[in-house]
Amino acid sequence: MSGFFITFEGIDGCGKTTQAQILMKNFSALNIDHLYVREPGGTTISENIRTLLLDNAHAIMGARTELLLFAAARAQIVDEVITPALQLGKAVICDRYTDSTAAFQGYGRELDYNLIQSAIQLATQGLEPHLTFLFDLDLDTAKQRRNNTGKLDDRLESEEIAFHQRVRKGYLQLARDHAHRFVVIDALKPVETQEKEIWKITQIFAKRAGFELEESR
Ligand code: TYD
Repeated sequence: MSGFFITFEGIDGCGKTTQAQILMKNFSALNIDHLYVREPGGTTISENIRTLLLDNAHAIMGARTELLLFAAARAQIVDEVITPALQLGKAVICDRYTDSTAAFQGYGRELDYNLIQSAIQLATQGLEPHLTFLFDLDLDTAKQRRNNTGKLDDRLESEEIAFHQRVRKGYLQLARDHAHRFVVIDALKPVETQEKEIWKITQIFAKRAGFELEESR
């Protein structure tokens, strides 16, 4: 596959979506053929599954059901959108991907490691990102940022503090375990500082992936 696959990860309220959109603008400015998608979502089927997953009315949802629904939403976006785009040589920016499952369902829900790996493999058929940005932030600041958006917390955001703490720690462990593709960003830094760091790192990883980041006309 000739494209370039970048994922953005972190706890809710870490600011990853802001940075993903800035990166998208940078790609647009250079006329780099790219695509921005979010998980769960990005296809009609996956967006419907997203609604099921995030609905506060579904507090009864079991951890295995949750894992399977995230996997189902992912299988669809991988087959319908991400793989075809990469095959066409595009850059794909994905707001959350498999590391969200490992962090939230693995570390957060404490589901068995092998179960998580099987669900990830089933959904992706082994498709891994070239580069993953992890936005690390303390829970209080993340909560404040979420409050500032004025949106009500969804089913996962409403989880207890201990859950979110496990997710944050889990992410940092994932970054150590997959150091070849993870870059940890200090999400307390000003947006412009993060943006510059992200652009520099993107250039390095693009080169490594054999992806042309020069202006294409
Ligand atoms: P997100 O789109 O980041 O939420 P928001 O629209 O509020 O920015 O993510 C939705 C939630 O789903 C988030 O709490 C993380 C969770 N999630 C998982 O638990 N597992 C997964 O595999 C994915 C992709 C997301």
